Amino acid sequence: MSGELVLGIESSCDETAAAVVADGRRILSSCVHSQAAMHAVYGGVVPEIAGRSHLQKILPVIDAALAEARVELDDLSAIAVTTRPGLIGSLLVGLSAAKGLAFARGLPLVGVHHIEAHVHAATMEAERFEYPCLALVVSGGHTAVYRVENPLALELLGTTLDDAAGEAFDKVAHLLGLGYPGGPAVSKLAREGDPRAIELPRYRSKRATGPEFSFSGIKTAVLYQVRGQDARATLPPPEAIPRRADIAASFEQAVCDVLVGECLRAAEREGLRTILVAGGVACNQRLRAEMTMRAAERGLVAVFPSPAYCTDNAVMIAGLGWHVWKAGGSAGLALEASPR
Ligand code: KG4
Ligand code: ZN
Repeated sequence: MSGELVLGIESSCDETAAAVVADGRRILSSCVHSQAAMHAVYGGVVPEIAGRSHLQKILPVIDAALAEARVELDDLSAIAVTTRPGLIGSLLVGLSAAKGLAFARGLPLVGVHHIEAHVHAATMEAERFEYPCLALVVSGGHTAVYRVENPLALELLGTTLDDAAGEAFDKVAHLLGLGYPGGPAVSKLAREGDPRAIELPRYRSKRATGPEFSFSGIKTAVLYQVRGQDARATLPPPEAIPRRADIAASFEQAVCDVLVGECLRAAEREGLRTILVAGGVACNQRLRAEMTMRAAERGLVAVFPSPAYCTDNAVMIAGLGWHVWKAGGSAGLALEASPR
């Protein structure tokens, strides 16, 4: 097998993933075991269940990634693993597996930052990619904008004051009586609704120097639409919610408006012409369409990974891991995990 092969391992939240990538770009395999169904009954990720499931799946998923790539451990040049941020018990499962394999085969071991890897995912499928650029990471746990000089140099420009965008989708899904994870469900219902039907507030950054997000106002407005303003009232059953699809569509539109507006202003302020969008919420079709269209109106380009590489995966870990390894970032068995 030609090229420098990196095995990537990801276990920071509720996906157990492994992938093999050649020379930081060529994707040879990608295996993901999602725990979404296990956590769905609880309406969110339960850390103890996540840790136990990672432990059961980590070696089978790694084996599957090696088999799909048709490579053996001895063909690898390095192993890359997510070390931060994430659920500590879950991170430790991937890290321990990576350490064991690296020790057994005498391979270099590199730690990868999960959010930086999400950003990197958006560049891996592009024919040619030119830095610097602006990057928006929108997932269940994060909403952040970075100025990116190269795969390893990211400067945080702004973040959310309250909920992450994905978290807002998940909470609104709950209000509308939809399952977890909420993003795909809200988005499906939104297709039947009118995005201009219900007026919802849009947050605009008050910082002169950078972007900033807030979704609590939108979320509260949705709560009032669904339940009314009486805090003692209970949530109505889904079929009793008036204009449910219109609420979903208007919510999705409001979140997109906030995300797109802040990113376009940040890109112009920073003099950047490319906007990368990554993380689970980057799967959202309305966000993809709105960001692409409104960026183009200003002569900017929006770049998204394909949906499989928007949500948690190990391709992004192996891809960025190759850059970390090339830059001499091998930490060996002393590598530590951190929730932040
Ligand atoms: O990146 P990710 O897989 O995990 C984290 O690192 O958080 O993102 C998961 C989040 C969830 O909140 C989910 O509801 C949201 O991404 N999401 C979506 C869509 N698909 C997933 N949100 C909106 N529209 C979607 N189509
Ligand atoms: Zn993620």
